[in-house]
Amino acid sequence: MPPKFGIAAWRLDAFPQLAEAAGRLQGVLRHSAATAAVGVNALFYGLPGTGKTELARALAEASGLRAYQVRSADEDGDGLRRTGRLSAYLLAQRLLGRWRDAVLIFDEVEDVFDPGDEPFAFMGVRRPTGRQKGWMNRILEDNPVPAIWITNDAAGMDPAFLRRFLLPVAFVTPPRSVRRAIVESHLGDRDLPPDLLDELAADPVLAPAQLGAARRLLDLHPQAPAEQTVRAGVAAVRTLLYGAPTPRRRTPATGFDVAFLNLAGGISPSAVARALAEQGRGSLCFYGPPGTGKTAFAEVLAEALDRELVARQASDLISPYVGETEQNLARLFRECDPAHSVLLLDEVDSFLSDRRAARHGWERTQVNELLQQMERYPGIFIAATNLMAGIDAAALRRFDFKLNFRALNPAQRLGLFAREALDDTTEAVAPELARYLETLQGLTAGDFANVCRQRSLLGEALTPEQFLRRLAAECRLKQEDGREAA
Ligand SMILES: Nc1ncnc2c1ncn2[C@@H]1O[C@H](COP(=O)(O)OP(=O)(O)OP(=O)(O)O)[C@@H](O)[C@H]1O
Ligand SMILES: [Mg+2]
Repeated sequence: MPPKFGIAAWRLDAFPQLAEAAGRLQGVLRHSAATAAVGVNALFYGLPGTGKTELARALAEASGLRAYQVRSADEDGDGLRRTGRLSAYLLAQRLLGRWRDAVLIFDEVEDVFDPGDEPFAFMGVRRPTGRQKGWMNRILEDNPVPAIWITNDAAGMDPAFLRRFLLPVAFVTPPRSVRRAIVESHLGDRDLPPDLLDELAADPVLAPAQLGAARRLLDLHPQAPAEQTVRAGVAAVRTLLYGAPTPRRRTPATGFDVAFLNLAGGISPSAVARALAEQGRGSLCFYGPPGTGKTAFAEVLAEALDRELVARQASDLISPYVGETEQNLARLFRECDPAHSVLLLDEVDSFLSDRRAARHGWERTQVNELLQQMERYPGIFIAATNLMAGIDAAALRRFDFKLNFRALNPAQRLGLFAREALDDTTEAVAPELARYLETLQGLTAGDFANVCRQRSLLGEALTPEQFLRRLAAECRLKQEDGREAA
């Protein structure tokens, strides 16, 4: 007999973001077991550690079925290779087929579909042969016991197999409220400070698996101070998996205020926010010089819409290998939860360069891939860039909103100066300083933020005159930069 799972650790309601899919699956599993339907296969795919196996077990339990696991090792505990695991699966199907009360869970199936360890692999044959494919397809069409197949990497699997899954379910990063509940269920009973739990929930890369590991550490080292154990444990795992102990966080040096956005064409930021709140989807292109608040506005929008900002730089996605950039783009969109996040792609000029000027085929395919993904994406997508000149005009037309972020206007310069450089905001800016500010065209909120950051790093107070001098220096630096680049 294949190993049977014990009682599921989680219940279905621990997966509210997948409630709809889970409800559908539950109905299908129940009915197919009762009517002995064949060829019922679900595929759970997506990010590691997002609870795919747990949901499979919870589903079996909720459907009143016994969950069996396909063996991944033989009697001696040696790991089975592809064919061994497939045989174990087929045997389990035969043994359990009569009972009508079972569901088979087949974990880590990516290698099962990959003939990489087959004898013909050395001849460079990567795809399964016709005969093999026919056989694999029958496996997915005739099985008497419903099966849940699980993989972290569906993209690497042959579309011919993928097409045969009746019930594919994508696992994406759960929304923050769900992550908070997951944190609570792992660590909530240990008297940890609530802000530690909030911090863990705010980190989208921490999957349930990592939180479970933190819990185990607590249990294995009960006499150590709990908060330190969790912090150190999570930081170490995070460093191992993602290269940094904590998420990259921007602490704004100046508090955001829409009054200091200067959008061309009289577009009001709050109208944009309202439209997005009503539609729940849309594509936006933010363009303008550095420091004009593009990223800051995206952050504020996400917060106002109670969504998570998923921010990526184009440079994170660009790969020198042919086709890989397109794959990275596709994965980014696929793995982003459209209902609960705002997707921000920065430096997007590197993708949207004018197709007419494209010297290489791959430049065109990247533009096309981005546009296609964007059109299909049912959530909110923001592209940001400093460079408008080189951007593909046809591509631009596809955005629902194009917002041109400009440097501060004279009144905004005065207002932000009063707020940041004077102790008392009711105090008026001295006339000679105001006149000087008047001349600083191109001054941005980002320049203010830089000066504020210097001030807090140096730990010194700046007189209004000193503050202004530094602002002017920031401004000059930019202009010199611009000239060099030109
Ligand atoms: N409306 C605003 N009110 C107050 N501060 C602001 C505002 N907009 C931007 N800032 C400040 O300026 C800093 C830089 O802004 P931001 O990073 O959003 O610029 P950006 O347009 O995205 O620049 P880049 O093109 O270089 O990415 C922010 O961290 C914030 O402190
Ligand atoms: Mg930015």
